Amino acid sequence: MGTRWLANFLGSSIGSKVTVAVSGLVLFGFVLGHLAGNLLVFRGKGALNDYAEFLAHQPGLVWTVRAVLLVALLAHVSMAIRLQLRNRAARPQPYARNATVQASLASRQMLLSGLLVLAYIVYHLLHFTVGATDHAAFEQVEQVVRNGATVQRHDVYRMVVTGFGHVPVAAAYVVANALLAWHLSHGVSSLFQTLGIDDPRYLSWIRRGGIGLAAVIGAGFISIPLCVQLGLIA
Ligand code: HEM
Repeated sequence: MGTRWLANFLGSSIGSKVTVAVSGLVLFGFVLGHLAGNLLVFRGKGALNDYAEFLAHQPGLVWTVRAVLLVALLAHVSMAIRLQLRNRAARPQPYARNATVQASLASRQMLLSGLLVLAYIVYHLLHFTVGATDHAAFEQVEQVVRNGATVQRHDVYRMVVTGFGHVPVAAAYVVANALLAWHLSHGVSSLFQTLGIDDPRYLSWIRRGGIGLAAVIGAGFISIPLCVQLGLIA
């Protein structure tokens, strides 16, 4: 066991597959946690900003999560691209008849949906984490009284409401999160299969569960820009 073993493992097809599955699971865990945090927007400004302030005071936790996410994202994307290239190289001639009738559209377009979600993540970081695309919204602060003294904190609630107040921005988030749901609809069930939970008796339930979970996650994220546009979050 050592670097050679790791290089051999990652270089093998099964190694790449397991890496895509495990890193996908890590990213999926973050998505679930992030959704739960974001849904605090429905409990009002105090709840969301308290949560954001709590995170801002945990730099150790935040930077550890960021480092883990970065490694997981790099591993997920690079190994997924490598698998696709290898699969294509193994089958240079297209089938005379389309043999992928069984495979869903989502399963055949994982690379496309994944790369679009990646583009969205880059935009999203520039939007809400760096504040590069909407500086005015990012700069907003809230005054809170603490122990008799007035202090300022980042007004994440106002930033989100201002951001999603722009129709093109809200529309981009709706489309991007629908794409994320599409990606997860196949990703979740293939993750189970790669990790060995592939008993044929449960296959259709695993598939349905994956689609259901993806739909709930997509609907959760999409509900935020939608409710801002409908004036239900203001
Ligand atoms: C409507 C949907 C979403 C909303 C309202 C939202 C909101 C936010 C906000 C407000 C932040 C900055 C937090 C802060 O500065 O305190 C953030 C960061 C982030 N979001 Fe989202 N998000 C959404 C969807 C997503 C999705 C679908 C993903 C991933 C697929 C994602 C990935 C991230 C990442 C990686 C960060 C950076 C975390 C860090 O600071 O290290 N977000 N999001």
